[in-house]
Amino acid sequence: MNSITIPRPDDWHLHLRDGAMLEGVIADSARHFARAIIMPNLVPPVVTGDQAAAYRDRILAALPEGMAFEPLMTLYLTETTDPDDVAAAVNSGLVKALKLYPAGATTNSDSGVRDFDKVVPVLERMAELGTPLCVHGEVTDSDIDIFDREAVFIDRVLDPLRRKVPGLRVVMEHITTSDGVAYARSGGPDLGATITTHHLIINRNHILVGGIKPHYYCLPVAKREEHRLALVDAATSGEPTFFLGTDSAPHPTDLKENACGCAGCYTSPNTMSLLAHVFEAENALDQLAIFASQNGPAFYRLPVNDDVLRLTKRDAPVAFPATRETGAGPVTLFDPGFDLFWEVETT
Ligand code: NCD
Ligand code: ZN
Repeated sequence: MNSITIPRPDDWHLHLRDGAMLEGVIADSARHFARAIIMPNLVPPVVTGDQAAAYRDRILAALPEGMAFEPLMTLYLTETTDPDDVAAAVNSGLVKALKLYPAGATTNSDSGVRDFDKVVPVLERMAELGTPLCVHGEVTDSDIDIFDREAVFIDRVLDPLRRKVPGLRVVMEHITTSDGVAYARSGGPDLGATITTHHLIINRNHILVGGIKPHYYCLPVAKREEHRLALVDAATSGEPTFFLGTDSAPHPTDLKENACGCAGCYTSPNTMSLLAHVFEAENALDQLAIFASQNGPAFYRLPVNDDVLRLTKRDAPVAFPATRETGAGPVTLFDPGFDLFWEVETT
């Protein structure tokens, strides 16, 4: 198979940032993706419906003329989030999900949740509304090893929370472990899980062997190879639980190549080529549309996109720039360390 055509994909977990960075990166998503769930971890975070509306306007203003792209807005859940504001923003059609960051878990998560009991009233309202909660699933306790934080979160926080708020629809964001895969599989139709492109490709050796590779550092951090294999198995399985959320997270290169480097991989430009490569290697190219274009809309109760994206396998490697120049500085693209032959053709 040298060419495949899939419904235009969506990105169910994307960081577009703001200002000059937003202007510099938005076309990379809009070129291939019809819609994206937009992460709200700006500084300050997008907490209220009014803030989400203003952010949506800034995103659309930054979109280059002639490009179509629908930002699906999220609110950043805090301990003081007002259930009525959430309901109004959801009912108006503006807000599609809320994002739960445990305080301190990742980039710009200081305003996140410390005491999970405090957010139960909002979660109960979300369960009534059918609004998904996108969860960054890592505990932040200093005594828990960073490689165990996802598995411990499932036991200590996620499972108890789902029992406390029956009917709450949850997306486990960017799962990185076989524990995450197993829990997501066990959760029924109200539990989904996004998988990033980079976690299908790298394990923790890629970050640390032969010198530290800051552009492979993201959160949750990549785990052992056995976990990567579990993610590839889930992504290529066709099971409705699993869908693409790139977690493409641009940072200026100098803030990653730094004594205290930021977490995040920038994968928007080459994600579809990378995914075609991974799926082909698994003999699962026929599952790519399900993972990237169909399961996400089904979970979010939205239609699959009408238009299509065609991927063609070239004889020579497809060229990608090493960096995306932006007004906020250059951003280094995720480099898988191997050549890519699948090229996207948009119609
Ligand atoms: C994200 C960012 O930079 O905003 N970083 C990352 O490593 N994934 C935050 C996040 O999704 O955890
Ligand atoms: Zn993210």
